This record gives sequence, structure tokens and C-alpha cells, in this order.
Amino acid sequence: MAIMLAAGKGTRMKSKKSKLVQKIYGKEIIKRAVENAKKAGINNIVAVVGYMKDEIMQVLGDEVQYAIQEEMLGTGHAVMQATKYLEGKKGKVLILNGDHPIIRPETLKRLYEESNKRGEVGTILSIYYDKPNAYGRIIHDEKGEVSAIVEYKDCNEEQVNIKEVNAGMYCFDIEELLKALKELTTDNAQGEYYLTDVIKIMHEKGLKTGSIIVEDYTEMLGVNDRVELQMITKFLQMRINTEHMRNGVTIEDINNTYIYDDVEIGMDTVIHPNTTIKSGVVIGEDCEIGPNSYIREGCKLANKVKIGSFVEIKKAIIGEGSKVPHLSYMGDCEIGEKCNIGCGTITCNYDGLHKSKTIIGNHSFIGSNTNLVAPVTVGDNTFIAAGSTITDDVPEYALAIARQRQTNKENWNKK
Ligand code: UD1
Ligand code: CA
Repeated sequence: MAIMLAAGKGTRMKSKKSKLVQKIYGKEIIKRAVENAKKAGINNIVAVVGYMKDEIMQVLGDEVQYAIQEEMLGTGHAVMQATKYLEGKKGKVLILNGDHPIIRPETLKRLYEESNKRGEVGTILSIYYDKPNAYGRIIHDEKGEVSAIVEYKDCNEEQVNIKEVNAGMYCFDIEELLKALKELTTDNAQGEYYLTDVIKIMHEKGLKTGSIIVEDYTEMLGVNDRVELQMITKFLQMRINTEHMRNGVTIEDINNTYIYDDVEIGMDTVIHPNTTIKSGVVIGEDCEIGPNSYIREGCKLANKVKIGSFVEIKKAIIGEGSKVPHLSYMGDCEIGEKCNIGCGTITCNYDGLHKSKTIIGNHSFIGSNTNLVAPVTVGDNTFIAAGSTITDDVPEYALAIARQRQTNKENWNKK
């Protein structure tokens, strides 16, 4: 079980929306936080919502249960609003800040497993920062246990220099957490109920508390403004692109390739610069994609497909060895094997009300600058003359010409 803290205000984003619904690679921060917890095997999640709660609830839907925090009286107060979900339960609960979108699911798993193994009632994820800014500082006792977390605003001169800080991810024993929450006070610099004080309360009772240091600090980054939003997007981009490269995909320019989550790309495929590939796309082996191409949702490319420069494809199923080499829009279409889609070909898939489909058989040659007015079916082994506007189906082995004949008016330009 996990409690996701998502009621805070986040004013630095300078937005009409909650910062938690800002998107990174098309997915809201809070949705990423919840998905990461689910990928770690936690299915029972309670989100504490308050500020702009309708917006957040719309994004998360019934993926989580909700507790409402009417007044923002601190992270400890936020957890208090969710206690009805904890009462009578035994075991551990994770408490996660909702504004940390790129934590690895394995790290959350490690927090849970390690906490159990060590027999701690309270375990926190921590991180070493050279400039720890506003993060809570971790204080250890002589045994190495965590005796307290001191918020930046409450630090004395010595504590301010501590570089191990609280990342805002906790694993607690449910029964001991419930007891400690009842002892929280607002006796601190911000006049808030600090969740972090739970650790001190537990430690003072002689219960075991500890921290797990996370090596990769990028996992722990929270999003507070649009500069951090971009920074985190860049870290996510590096992580995704690196993973594809390790799986045998060549990416010519890691900085200028935008591959969203959950994309499959086969071995020996080459991605040229400035290419965007949206979530859920599947690309086979030995393909070439880009430069400057846009592979949108619902595309499935077989092996040896070439998508060249300045091509946009959407919901396109493309068969082995087919090519869309330049300047095309192919949307809502099925293209067979070994087709050549000439430069500038467009599927006219939208009539202002409905989207319609274009089907092209195997071994067909679509001449340059063809308009395929959907719904339309082009058979196997066809040839479409360049510049055609195809409105009727084309039978197999046919040549289709659908354009005005040229007339030359001799000497016209001399007049
Ligand atoms: C908190 C920690 C700090 C840690 C940092 C890591 C406390 C007291 N401090 O500080 O030690 O280093 O996170 O990012 O917990 N929230 C609510 N209700 C509230 C207040 C906050 O739901 O009343 C939520 C926010 O939406 C956010 C999370 O709790 O998702 C953290 O709140 P935030 O105000 O960002 O805490 P920090 O001051 O950053
Ligand atoms: Ca924060």
C-alpha cells in the first residue's frame, strides 16, 4: 500500500493548473508518480488531494483511492487525512511525494524490501547533494540510525552543512506510523505538521529507523517550476534513449531524439536526429527513421521499413521493406510489404467529421504527390501516377492516373 501526497499548492510553476498535472513527454507528473508505484508492485494507492483536486482526480480517475486535505497544514497533516485507510491494517506503507515523477520502480521496491530486511519501523530514501538547498537534512545517531530530519528552515548553522538530505519517500510500519502521527505538533519554523518528525518520534521510542542512499540523484528530483520541468524531461530523455541504445538501436543524436515511454524498437534500427516517437509505437528491426520525422500513436512498423525525412505517420501499420522516404503524411492506414510511397504523398483521412482509412496492398508504387482520399483501398502490385488524387479503389495490377491532362499553348508567353 502507498499514500501519495498530492494536495500541495506549488506556486512556482506560475500556472493556472496544478503543477502535478503539468506534462513530461505527454504524461502528467502525478500520473507518472502513480505509474511508477504501480510498476513497483503497489496496487493499493491512496492519493491525498486538496489544491485543484478535481483536476488531479480527473487525471488519476479510479486508478487510486482518495483522501481529501481541506487545509494545507503540512505533509504530516496530509497523511493524517488518509489514516482511515490504514487503521486496523498491519505491515508497511510507502509514503511518496507526488511531485517526483522519474523515480525508478526498482528504487521503490528496494525501499520496501530493504526496510523489511533491516527490521526498521521507519526508512527513508536519502540523497547526497553538494548544495542541498531547501531539502530536509538527515541526522544520524552514533549507531548510524536516523534520529531526525531537520527541515532547512529549522536548521542551525551546523545542520545546514549536512549533505545527506531527505528525498521525500518513506516506508513505515503502519501501526507505529498511526501512533506517531498522533504525537505530531506544529512547533517549528513553518508552523506545519511535518511528516518528517515521525522519524524522530519513532527513534526516541527506541524503534529502529534508517535511510537508504540513492546513487542516481536524478530519480529524486521534484518539479517545482518550469526550469525543473525541462531538466527532468532531459534526464528522462537520456534514460530512455540510453536504454534503447543498450538494446541495439542506433540513435545518432541522443540530445535531439524524443522517444516517449513504452516504445519498442528492434535491433539494428537507426534513428536519425530530430525524430519524435510517441508512446506505444512498435518498430521492427533494421528500420531507418528520420531525420525530422514524427511517428505518432498507434504506429506499427515491420522490419526493414524506412521512414525518411519530414514524414508524419499516425496509426499506420506498415509492412516489411516498405518505404515512405520524404515529406509525407500517412495517417490511419495499412501499407503492405515492399511498397514505395512517393515523396509528398498524403492520406486525406479527415473530412472534418470522421477519420477514414487507407489500405494499400503489397508491392505497390505510389507516385509522388499523390492524395489518397480515404476511405480508399489500393490493391497489390498497383502503380499510381504522380500527382494523382485517388478517390476510387484501385484494383490489383492496375495503373491509376487521376489528374488533369497537360495542354501546352505554343508561343503563349511571347505575347
Ligand atoms: C518535503 C520534506 C523535506 C524533503 C522534501 C523532498 C516535509 C516536512 N519535508 O519538503 O524534508 O527534503 O519534501 O522533496 O515533509 N503536500 C500535501 N499537503 C500539504 C503539504 C504538502 O499534500 O499540506 C504534498 C505536496 O503536494 C507534495 C509533497 O506533499 O507532493 C511535499 O510537499 P512540499 O511542500 O513540496 O514539501 P517540501 O517543503 O519540499
Ligand atoms: Ca517539494
